[in-house]
Amino acid sequence: MRLNDCHNFHDFQTLARKRLPSPIYNYIAGGADDEVTLRANTSSFERCDLIPNVLRGVEDVDLSTTVMGQKIDLPVYLSPTALQRLFHHQGERATAAAAEKFGTMFGVSSLGTVSMEELAKKHSNPQVYQFYFHKDRGLNHAMMQKAKESGIKVMMLTVDSITGGNRERDLRTGFSIPFRLTVAGALQFAIKPMWGINYVTHEKFSLPQLDAHIDMKGDSLTIGRYFTEMLDPSMTWDDVEKMVAEWGGEFCLKGVMSVEDAKRAADIGCTGIVLSNHGGRQLDGSTTAFDQLDEIVQAVGDRIDVMIDGGVQRGTHVLKALAIGAKAVGLGRYYLFPLAAAGQAGIERAVGKLKEELVRDMRLMGCTSVNQLTRDMVKFK
Ligand code: LAC
Repeated sequence: MRLNDCHNFHDFQTLARKRLPSPIYNYIAGGADDEVTLRANTSSFERCDLIPNVLRGVEDVDLSTTVMGQKIDLPVYLSPTALQRLFHHQGERATAAAAEKFGTMFGVSSLGTVSMEELAKKHSNPQVYQFYFHKDRGLNHAMMQKAKESGIKVMMLTVDSITGGNRERDLRTGFSIPFRLTVAGALQFAIKPMWGINYVTHEKFSLPQLDAHIDMKGDSLTIGRYFTEMLDPSMTWDDVEKMVAEWGGEFCLKGVMSVEDAKRAADIGCTGIVLSNHGGRQLDGSTTAFDQLDEIVQAVGDRIDVMIDGGVQRGTHVLKALAIGAKAVGLGRYYLFPLAAAGQAGIERAVGKLKEELVRDMRLMGCTSVNQLTRDMVKFK
């Protein structure tokens, strides 16, 4: 199977699985506990159907929108995700460049493997900085300063990872950071030689957002342990209110799921929220972002931008979310499998396919701009 044979999410996933050592593939693909929420994320989009209109004159479709004060050409953005140079040696550089090519926003993670400054210097499309609230307040302050100095406009604080989700695939494979070539890993290296050669012949693994503050040399951490040991479980709304004031710009919370929290986010001055269960990687049995969207948009949609992520695999998933009132939709695995499969070319093909689907589906819905997608165009079963 080659890149040109990839036509949808599943094809990219299959190709990524062929190319990656299994601990890395399973880190991306897996969720918490029994992975019920991971599966529910995609199937929740099937709880409603689209109601198309016809004969509207749909030659020119404009997919552009504005979210978190940023004008973007597509109503989807590439969510911040960790450790991308482990998946493909181009890592975040490929993600940022592909997002720029499609005129959309991308996120850089606190656990990113390329520095936010480098990407901000090189690219003109909007960048989100994804923030974890660490026990080390000096680190929090320094990261916020660095983001400001880099010219980053949108701060995204992840609030659903106060402790590590139970990712049993990682426990089974021994996946940890920095990625170590254990005996089992060495076997994987032999089975996936191209990945191994690329990994050892490119820039050494590092976490530039954290390196100055966390000494990882002697130790290796599972992602679960990173969350549990480094992040501050005492974080409250008061802490976030102070951060919002310190940042003084577009600030969104990622991982809000209840109506009450959505209102509270608006009350403390957040300008956006991302409804998210972290790709089913944290609280298994959690509701899905799509299932919460309608009620939350009705509660706060006139005060803040509501975004969702999780389980998006098709243009129609995006259109359903926009019709219900999401301002934009985040992609995670949807671009990570293509990244792993073929680097920047992989992401460009995947986002290009999604864009084609969006244009086609907008025409079939009788819409030429995203604000024509309205709540009456979906029907819950
Ligand atoms: C994860 C974190 C790092 O889900 O976002 O693995």
